[in-house]
Amino acid sequence: MEAGLGAIVDRSLSELGRVAGDEDGLMPMGRRLPPMEGPAEATRPDWVQADPQRIDRALRRALLREGGGWCVVDASRSIGPAPTRYVLDGKAWVCWRDDDGHPHLAPNSCPHMGAELHCAKVEGGELVCPWHGLKLGKKGRGTWQPVPCHDDGVLVWARILEGETPTDAPIMAPRPKTFLEGTIRMTGRCDAQDIVANRLDPWHGVHYHPHSFARLRLLEASDDVLTVRVAYKVVGPVCVEVDCTFHSPQRRAIVMTIVRGDGAGSVVETHATPVRPGETAMVEATLASSDREGFHHALRIERMVRPFVEKRAKRLWQEDLEYAERRYALRHGDAS
Ligand code: FES
Ligand SMILES: [Fe+2]
Repeated sequence: MEAGLGAIVDRSLSELGRVAGDEDGLMPMGRRLPPMEGPAEATRPDWVQADPQRIDRALRRALLREGGGWCVVDASRSIGPAPTRYVLDGKAWVCWRDDDGHPHLAPNSCPHMGAELHCAKVEGGELVCPWHGLKLGKKGRGTWQPVPCHDDGVLVWARILEGETPTDAPIMAPRPKTFLEGTIRMTGRCDAQDIVANRLDPWHGVHYHPHSFARLRLLEASDDVLTVRVAYKVVGPVCVEVDCTFHSPQRRAIVMTIVRGDGAGSVVETHATPVRPGETAMVEATLASSDREGFHHALRIERMVRPFVEKRAKRLWQEDLEYAERRYALRHGDAS
């Protein structure tokens, strides 16, 4: 699956030369956006170009993909030795890291008398129940068993979802070799499919997020990969234009990959994790990469740059969660 979609993205990259024209077809950073050129159908207003049927079709295909039973718990950075409580797929869990740095996720209820384990101390990488001191670790005890966990260096995943053919590891899209990372986690009153549907609708971008996007043009749309040319705002009227693809490597994720222009190779992974019926966590990792000379300096001060990356992503998702929640409400006849 991963290799297949990787090939599609690679093909999109090579075909962009044909679709987008020469290198000058993209507006580089720092210039004011010139008037839109191109065929008449490409310059129609976004609301005319938007294709709800295509969005529905692409969503249906995305939801049929394998999931492997995995969902993203949180950013790797957010999970340390101290136990933390999560609600995932309608159950309460405790998550912590052992002394070797491996994350673990297990039921948040002690197998003795049910004490909540996110209040536990940790000794030698094991939880010590706050009520009677039972030690609980990666080997489990009776019916209390940790579930498979995976740390990919950016995100921590857990295999907890039933009804899917389990895979040994999460199904992921390719990532850049070096990147500057920022990850956000927000929850909304919606289902996972509403998060995915939002990312499969490129047409809302300019009018719904006017602070961030100046122009968007769909270059190519198959049911599996969307290729768009987007001008996003850097500062004030200064924009940069890039070509990017959107594809779904698995049923709860959409990945945007910049395939041409500034930051080519960068990806934004948007993951939808079921919390409970009608509530979903959106975890989005921005992995910015660049061949610009200054990028290596930026990597050295990643901790200082990260808050800006995350602030921008949060602003967009505050709005996109409203979109997802509205979609969910409409589906449930509760759109008053
Ligand atoms: S409830 Fe945990 S040891 Fe008793
Ligand atoms: Fe959006």
